[in-house]
Amino acid sequence: MSYSVENFGSREALDRGLCARVEAILQAAIDERGSAFCVVSGGSTPLGFFRQLSTAKLDFSKVTFGLVDERWVSPDHDDSNERAVRSHLLQGAASSAEFVPLFGGGPDAAADAAAADQTFKTLPTFDVVLLGLGLDAHTASLFPGAVGLQAALEPGGCSAVAALQPPAAPHTRLTLTVARLINTRHLFVQATSAEKLEVLSAAAASEDALSMPISWFLNQQLVPLQVFWAP
Ligand code: 6PG
Repeated sequence: MSYSVENFGSREALDRGLCARVEAILQAAIDERGSAFCVVSGGSTPLGFFRQLSTAKLDFSKVTFGLVDERWVSPDHDDSNERAVRSHLLQGAASSAEFVPLFGGGPDAAADAAAADQTFKTLPTFDVVLLGLGLDAHTASLFPGAVGLQAALEPGGCSAVAALQPPAAPHTRLTLTVARLINTRHLFVQATSAEKLEVLSAAAASEDALSMPISWFLNQQLVPLQVFWAP
C-alpha cells in the first residue's frame, strides 16, 4: 500500500493546496523538459481547483491538459467534462494551454475511444494525473460492474482509452485505462466528505479492484498516490 492522505481542513484550503502542488510540478516540468502534461478528473470536486489553477503564474502555452474520463456527450452538453474544463480551467492566461479532448464527435463512443486511444498513446508520461472518487469506489470512469472494466484495469494492457457503459451512472463513458493513467510522475486523488474517506479506507483494505476500482491505485507500488482530502 503506497498512498498518503493529507487533510486540508476545508475545501477552500484543499483547492489552494492542490493548486500550489500542481503549479510547482508543472513549472518544474516546463523548466526541465520545456512542456508539462496534466490530466484531470471530471465531476464537481475539482471545479474550485480548476479556478485556482487558471490564475497560476505559469507559461500555459507550454502546458497540455486532458481528462481522465469523459461522458460521451457533446462539449456543449451540461454534463460534459470538457465543458467544465473549458469553463473553469481554460480561462484567462490558462486559455493558451493545449487541451486534448476525449469526445471526438464520431458515430459512437467506440469510434471516439479508438481515435482518442491513438492520440493518448502518443502523449508522453504525464506530469500529473488527478483522479476523483465516487461513493461506489469508481475513479475516472472505471465503474464497478461495467462491461470491459477488467481489461481497462490491466496495467500491462495495450489500450490507453476505453469506452465503458456504467451500470447505473448516466451516459456512456470514455475513460483512460490504468495502463495509461499509471504512466505519470505524480498521481493524485482529490476527494471530499467523510463518506469518501471511508470508501478510501475500505478500498485500501480490499484486493478486489473489480468491485472497488480505486483500490487498484491505492494498492499499486508503481507511483506513490497522494490523496488530497477535506471534510
Ligand atoms: C466523472 C468523473 C468521476 C468523478 C466522480 C466524483 O466524469 O464524473 O470523472 O470519476 O470524479 O464521479 O464526482 P464528484 O466530484 O462530482 O463527486
